[in-house]
Amino acid sequence: MQDLIHQSFSVQFEYSVFFTEKMLALDNVVLAETVHSRSRQDRPKMLTVIDAGLISANPDLPSKLEQYAAHHQINLVAPPMIVPGGEAVKNEPALPDNILQAIDRFGICRHSYVLAVGGGAVLDMVGLAAATAHRGVRLIRVPTTVLAQNDAGIGVKNGINAFGKKNFIGTFCPPYAVINDFAFLQTLDMRDWRAGVAEAVKIALIRDAEFFHFLEDSAHALAARDHGAMKMVVRRCAELHLRHIRTAGDPFELGSARPLDFGHWAAHRLEILTSYELKHGEAVAIGIALDSIYSHLIGCLDAKDLRKILAVLNAIGFRLYVPEIEDPSLFEGLAQFREHLGGVLTVTLLDSIGRGFEVHEIDQALYARTIKYLKDYALTGMVSPPRLSMETAGVAHAHRA
Ligand SMILES: NC(=O)c1ccc[n+]([C@@H]2O[C@H](COP(=O)([O-])OP(=O)(O)OC[C@H]3O[C@@H](n4cnc5c(N)ncnc54)[C@H](O)[C@@H]3O)[C@@H](O)[C@H]2O)c1
Ligand SMILES: [Zn+2]
Repeated sequence: MQDLIHQSFSVQFEYSVFFTEKMLALDNVVLAETVHSRSRQDRPKMLTVIDAGLISANPDLPSKLEQYAAHHQINLVAPPMIVPGGEAVKNEPALPDNILQAIDRFGICRHSYVLAVGGGAVLDMVGLAAATAHRGVRLIRVPTTVLAQNDAGIGVKNGINAFGKKNFIGTFCPPYAVINDFAFLQTLDMRDWRAGVAEAVKIALIRDAEFFHFLEDSAHALAARDHGAMKMVVRRCAELHLRHIRTAGDPFELGSARPLDFGHWAAHRLEILTSYELKHGEAVAIGIALDSIYSHLIGCLDAKDLRKILAVLNAIGFRLYVPEIEDPSLFEGLAQFREHLGGVLTVTLLDSIGRGFEVHEIDQALYARTIKYLKDYALTGMVSPPRLSMETAGVAHAHRA
């Protein structure tokens, strides 16, 4: 006979994602109220970490933050720490260590704050340090790229890269709050402005056909840097991501499936194969194109929908061909994707615009045709997908079985 005590409890997580403009204007109280609302300190302590790329585009940011903190009784324990922007920040283990040392030196406790301001990479790195110091201090994220505002900065994950693998070291840890300030988007360079839209296309394709049609209608405005159109895209995309985390039943990804990673197995591999020359969102756009073509070739997504998807990615301005898609080691991305999630390989494909479904294997020979198809499309603008053959229809049947 076995003796056991079965333990089971749940913990409620709550955080708000604010949408605002000019959060450091003295009359904008979002940050001040967030910091003061549940604090027992008269002048709550806050350690700030800012993305260097953001600072070069906004050199007066540290002084604005200092004025704001003084005005709103927030105790900035030190001048803002400035860390490199971009993926490099996730490839240097000394950087999270520096943050941990500062958390220790300045006495940031579990009732004080770390404010992380920057792109998704900086938020991921600072998030790891904040989640592990004292087993978790309060982290307020201020995402400043499109991708960070509509995806990377609003969810429950953090991480850095190790052993040549994306996000190998990281935790699931919801933030204390997130403040999306649309005004920051204005200084993004064109590639970063565009890159984040790939995540919106992704979530529209698997969850929301109407949002996809909005993206189709807005593609040229987005390519022309229309601020109003971008605000709507970020808002809706963030809402869909948050809804998924809240309602899909697996916020900490304990299962094998990760539907929001449509297009991502190839994307993660392409980021590595291009030595991160390709930005995450740019790689995701290619991954979406590939997995959409594959969905068509196995007989699921119809030709009309496929044409629309490729046309939208094109109109937004994504480059859909890079030579690395032809690298045979692209398929190592599948094994790495499975390993990262654990369990059986689960890849999301498309039935139609707005509806994803899952498969557990990828036919590599057919995927080689997928790659060739994308290359032809990207280099020649060919827009008529090949007709489905009996042979590929057979593959589709096998996949869904
Ligand atoms: N944690 C998650 O759930 C999650 C989800 C998706 C992606 N991610 C990660 O997010 C990262 C990508 O994030 P990203 O797309 O924000 O890119 P990024 O963080 O690499 O930033 C891109 C560039 O923009 C600069 N920058 C940031 N804000 C700026 C501004 N307002 N004006 C001018 N320049 C600015 C940065 O310095 C950097 O050079 C990847 O590491 C990816 O793995 C994480
Ligand atoms: Zn992504």
